Formats: sequence, structure tokens, C-alpha cells
Amino acid sequence: MAQNTSLVFTLNDGRSIPAIGLGTWQSKPNEVRDSVKFALEHGYRHIDTALNYGNEKEVGEGIRSSGVPRENIWVTTKLDNPWHQRVAEGFQKSLHDLNIGYIDLFLIHFPCSTDPNDPTMHLPDWDFVKTWQEMQKLLDTGKVKSIGVSNFQIRHLEKLLSDPSCKIVPAVNQIELHPSNPSPKLLDYCMSKGIHCTAYSCLGGTIGSPINNSGPLLEEPAILELAKSKGKSPQQIVLMWGLKRGTSIIPKSVTPSRIEQNFGLDGWTLRPEEVASISAIKSRFKVVQDGWMPIRVFFGDDE
Ligand SMILES: NC(=O)c1ccc[n+]([C@@H]2O[C@H](COP(=O)([O-])OP(=O)(O)OC[C@H]3O[C@@H](n4cnc5c(N)ncnc54)[C@H](OP(=O)(O)O)[C@@H]3O)[C@@H](O)[C@H]2O)c1
Repeated sequence: MAQNTSLVFTLNDGRSIPAIGLGTWQSKPNEVRDSVKFALEHGYRHIDTALNYGNEKEVGEGIRSSGVPRENIWVTTKLDNPWHQRVAEGFQKSLHDLNIGYIDLFLIHFPCSTDPNDPTMHLPDWDFVKTWQEMQKLLDTGKVKSIGVSNFQIRHLEKLLSDPSCKIVPAVNQIELHPSNPSPKLLDYCMSKGIHCTAYSCLGGTIGSPINNSGPLLEEPAILELAKSKGKSPQQIVLMWGLKRGTSIIPKSVTPSRIEQNFGLDGWTLRPEEVASISAIKSRFKVVQDGWMPIRVFFGDDE
């Protein structure tokens, strides 16, 4: 039976991303140090963070205090929107705060180049294609091993991939994926271009958070029935669905028992018809919206 906790996905640059990671968005700095350390001590080898989360210093402390050798850990972080014209500086800030020597995967967080002096404005004469030109240069520093994007829709990727300045196909597109936002068209498009997808908000997001919209995903009968018949939690069922779709998953938790539970994905599986029963769930919601950005980035046409 599959040992999912040691599963990796091979990226288009030949590197291997561990299939299960720990998310850290909305993990408070005082909590995230301990949760990252706990996760690494309990087998996780992939940590997802971002400059925008405001907790990279503590994420780095958790990584360093875990005792797990740096080279055995995959760390993803992301360029924040107001840093698109200053990619090298934005990268340097994350590298400095994390203080872990190098970054495994650096992503453009959103295809939105926000004016650093006015968050309601998009930069004139600049967009994510120019940002990607700068991202490509980062590889020469040796301080980042892989580069990719996040929240890119098909229209963004078509524009990027068709631009002559795009010499490197993004290794990863990190996007919102859960049974109530399955985005099959976008997932298929990425796979057809050799772009691996990491599923964020893979549990349906933080319930009760004032800054995102989670929905009643974990009360869906199809998920509850499978949880009961397999003796697993609804969260474990949803995570296994994500793995079975070929995506890496980065569930966030600051609760030790949940961090352990979310890693409890070895020795059992979902059969194709069970995966299909979850994929047939009809309810729809999106955790991450674009109303806080100066331009739209989600168009609802990737289903
Ligand atoms: N690229 C992007 O734009 C983007 C956007 C959103 C998210 N992300 C990344 O994806 C990660 C995951 O997404 P997310 O944070 O939106 O939400 P999520 O992982 O879908 O859900 C997190 C919520 O589920 C709870 N939880 C976790 N495991 C549980 C379990 N076994 N049983 C019951 N509840 C459980 C957590 O509570 P506790 O923590 O209280 O235990 C938290 O409230 C983020 O942390 C971030 O790293 C990236």
C-alpha cells in the first residue's frame, strides 16, 4: 500500500517536491515556530510560507530548531505583490528572514504587480511577464533551486508561456484546489504544460477566519460516508483526494494532533470510484478572493 508520506512529485526541472507539506498562512508567529518544529520532528519534509504571511522569521526558527538537516527539507516561499519591480530585494528579504541558506521553490504569489506606494494601484508599464524575467535571473544566484507561480489562471499562463522572454516554464503553479473548487480545466492545462500543481486551502480553508470564506465542505455526505467506512477523518479523506489527483498538498494547522493526523496518509488509499464520488460534489466556494487587489486575477473560467 502506498507510502504517501515519502511520496514526491518530479518537477519539470528534475527536482522532487515532497507531496505533503505544512501550510503556515494565518499561523501566528508565536504558534508557527512550534508547529513547524513539531511537523518536521513528526516526518514532514515540506514547509510552505510567504513574505505576505508575516511569519517567515519564526518559520525559519522552527526549521532550524527541528534538528532535521536543511538538505532534507523543501521550503517554498513567495514574492509579495508590492515587490514585483524589486524581485531580487523581495527574494533577499525572505531569504534573510528565514535564515536557512537557500530556498527550494520561489513563487510569484499572484499575477498582480501592486504599486508599493499605493495598494489600490497596479504598476503602470509592468506586469507578471516582466516579473518572471527577473525571477529567471534568480536561478543564477544559486540561492533558489526552482521557480514557479501561484494563482495563475490559464489566461495568465498562456500569456507568460507565449512570451519570447519566457525561457523557463514555471515548475509549479500553487492554486486553490479542494472538492468545492476542483478547477479541472486549470489542472489539466498545467499538467499538459509540465507544470506541477500544489493544492492550497486543500482542507477548504480556515473556518471562521474573517479574511477568507470557507464553506461546509467537510460536512458533504460523500466525504462523511468515506470517512466512516475507512475509519479516517473527513480531513484525511479530502487530503487523500488531493494526492490522488496528482497534486502536492499543504494543509495548515497549528494543532499538534491535527498536524499528525494530516500526515496519517500511509497504508490506505481511495479507489478511483471513491475519488470520483468526491469529485462529483456539487457545492462551490473559493477561499481566496481578489477584491483586495487592484486588478482581478480570478475569472471563474477554469472549471
Ligand atoms: N498561494 C496562495 O495564494 C495561498 C493561499 C492560501 C493558502 N496558501 C497556503 O496553503 C496553506 C493551506 O491553506 P489554508 O491555510 O487556507 O487552509 P487549509 O489548510 O485548507 O485549512 C486550515 C484550517 O483547517 C484546520 N485544520 C487543519 N487540519 C485539521 C484537522 N485534521 N481537523 C480539523 N481541522 C483541521 C486548521 O486549524 P488549526 O490550525 O487551528 O489546527 C485551519 O483552521 C496555507 O497555510 C498557505 O501555506 C497559499
